[in-house]
Amino acid sequence: MTKLAPVLSAHWDEKDSFTIEAYTRHGGYKASAKALAMDPDAVIQLVKDSGLRGRGGAGFPTGMKWGFIPQGDNKEHYLVVNADESEPGTCKDTPLMMANPHVLIEGCIIACHAIRAKHGFIYIRGEVTHVVRRLNQAIEDAYKSGHLGNGIDLVLHVGAGAYICGEETALLDSLEGFRGQPRLRPPFPAIAGLYARPTVVNNVESIASVPAIIANGAEWYQKYGTEKSKGMTLYSLSGHVNNPGQFEAPLGITLREILDMAGGVRTGHKLKFWTPGGSSTPLFTDEHLDTPLDYEGVAAAGSMLGTKALQIFDETTCVVRAVLRWTEFYKHESCGKCTPCREGTWWLVQILRDLENGSGSEEDLAKLLDLCDNIMGRSFCALGDGATSPITSSIKYFRDEYIAHVTGKGCPFDPVASTLFSSAGAR
Ligand SMILES: Cc1cc2nc3c(=O)[nH]c(=O)nc-3n(C[C@H](O)[C@H](O)[C@H](O)COP(=O)(O)O)c2cc1C
Ligand code: SF4
Repeated sequence: MTKLAPVLSAHWDEKDSFTIEAYTRHGGYKASAKALAMDPDAVIQLVKDSGLRGRGGAGFPTGMKWGFIPQGDNKEHYLVVNADESEPGTCKDTPLMMANPHVLIEGCIIACHAIRAKHGFIYIRGEVTHVVRRLNQAIEDAYKSGHLGNGIDLVLHVGAGAYICGEETALLDSLEGFRGQPRLRPPFPAIAGLYARPTVVNNVESIASVPAIIANGAEWYQKYGTEKSKGMTLYSLSGHVNNPGQFEAPLGITLREILDMAGGVRTGHKLKFWTPGGSSTPLFTDEHLDTPLDYEGVAAAGSMLGTKALQIFDETTCVVRAVLRWTEFYKHESCGKCTPCREGTWWLVQILRDLENGSGSEEDLAKLLDLCDNIMGRSFCALGDGATSPITSSIKYFRDEYIAHVTGKGCPFDPVASTLFSSAGAR
């Protein structure tokens, strides 16, 4: 029996799903008409009642975030949609915007009305030019049909492709034209965000979830999901599976159930490890196949639901090599503002390279953990903390595999390559 609950993805398989004609054919822009006729506070209350939590990673309640915007302050308010999606494995916002850009635009109209903002911005990562074109066309069509431009304007801003610009305050700096680096908080964006004005920053999927909630009501949404994690969401399944893709299902589904629908781990192989929420969330193994994939279930099992990016790795994958690749990414993307992350991620890469190519020692493992300890909780933003997650969790579950690299003087998964690496010293 299918456990899917397609709402955002309901019409993705239709050829013209991205057009305004298809969107209106399926009832699109009725929710914004309904919301615009409501008192803004009632819209905020409805979103609060639905239990919708932010889909950008932290799971903060969306209605509550909107409620933080001061009212009657005679200041401009802004909505900023975070479409920077750069976390390794995370690939839900891009297909959502490609297949149905209008649901995001309609969500922006409703959110702007609720927080009393006349201007919304969508900050999108620079590399996805196909999505930029699609969104630009959709915004133009929304203006032509009068959904935008009648008191609410929407600007698409193309970033330059930096993972750190997905961190909401770095995003705001980048949007203002500065180098994207996180800001000190407080003040939080709700008080002093874009151009020092009250600002709501929300993920693409969070905002795109709003029209269906307005159209169907908070009770409808609450019927899906678990006690504290309401509704349905996009789970992005990638890696060693027979049918990777987006699976929109109620929160609380398990990986076992999703894998069943996806035809399982690639034929002839078995699950070794996986990420529940992208590469910055601690790894899971086959022990966690039945962990409920909601915010509480994943946290109780020692990780984070994050962006629900389920990356699957089978037994042919060297966990040390996979962790090295992710750590190289974090080192490259570290913005350099704070020492623990700037220096720490560099050292993590050096030690992991030694371990992976067989020139490391057992003491290096202790050094790695000590470095992680000095980065975790001491970095200026969550990028530094996230960089340590794959390392500490992989050592927890696969210490023997690290040791095998040391004792075997190379990667046990790749004997030819390990000979080359050990003779060359390092890569
Ligand atoms: C390094 C880093 C990168 C992030 N990248 C993204 C991103 O690409 N998209 C996103 O929505 N949130 C990202 N976040 C989380 C945002 O800071 C913020 O919490 C989120 O946009 C809030 O939206 P939500 O409440 O709808 O989840 C990132 C956070 C960090 C620390
Ligand atoms: S943790 Fe890393 S990305 Fe975040 S501010 Fe420090 S150096 Fe920049």
